[in-house]
Amino acid sequence: MPKVLISDKLSPAAIEIFRRRGIEVDFKPGLSPAELRAIIAPYDGLAVRSATKVTRELMDAAPNLKVVGRAGIGVDNVDVTSATARGVVVMNTPYGNAITTAEHAIAMMFALARQIPEASASTKAGRWEKNRFMGVELFGKTLGLIGCGNIGSIVANRAIGLHMKVVAFDPFLSEKRALELGVEKVELNELLDRAEFVTLHAPLTEHTRNILSRENLAKLRKGARLINCARGGLVDEAALYDALASGHLAGAALDVFETEPATESPLFGLENVVCTPHLGAATAEAQENVALQVADQMADYLLSGA
Ligand code: MLT
Repeated sequence: MPKVLISDKLSPAAIEIFRRRGIEVDFKPGLSPAELRAIIAPYDGLAVRSATKVTRELMDAAPNLKVVGRAGIGVDNVDVTSATARGVVVMNTPYGNAITTAEHAIAMMFALARQIPEASASTKAGRWEKNRFMGVELFGKTLGLIGCGNIGSIVANRAIGLHMKVVAFDPFLSEKRALELGVEKVELNELLDRAEFVTLHAPLTEHTRNILSRENLAKLRKGARLINCARGGLVDEAALYDALASGHLAGAALDVFETEPATESPLFGLENVVCTPHLGAATAEAQENVALQVADQMADYLLSGA
């Protein structure tokens, strides 16, 4: 009977599935890297979210490991190169939390346009600052999507519903798909020039790291607003601070940071910045979906005679 270890907080639905499919499963979230290395040897599968770092050292201590399942989209907490070299399959759940993450991006866009977090804090503090919070409408504005895959295309759909004009930069987006989605496919420079709101929906790779570099942030039109619910390393945070502080950008809404957990950042001191602690996938529905999907996928693989 294959053995799976769940080392992050996954919905109990995943445990149920493994058991139902005849897989022995242990649920041990919150172990330190050393504790995890000490117990990993007998396991055939490891199911994680983002807290566990699946490093080469961990895999060195896991001679039986055949599959790492990431309940979520990004596999940046898994050393995929080392896993591949060992014949360990790495799988993710690219669809399970896409709607939830897209909805968070839209929520962040509204929060930014209407300064909702600041207005809420001020109202709760007993100040009735009706004249302080003058927002902007989304209606008729141009939204630039950097990345138009699973999540970006859902954001496009919702934004079109809000009567925004959507332009997208994504080298993998075909003209046919762009047409189906109702978005205009453009090059990055054109997007930076035209978009009044820019939202990132790309994975962090060697090609996308710092895609919003100092130089590219400077190319954004004055008064643009940026939303990042994808990965922190996509944006040069020091340059973003300067662009916001100088007034070149009107605001930014950030769910992700170069270093996480992000407990301090100069960006936190800016009034025109809205922040959340990597909550993109944090809904009950998404967590249930990714847990079910990762457990089924891992069980399929382990029971296929891998
Ligand atoms: C993902 O990659 O699935 C999201 O960023 C959510 C997460 O990391 O938990």
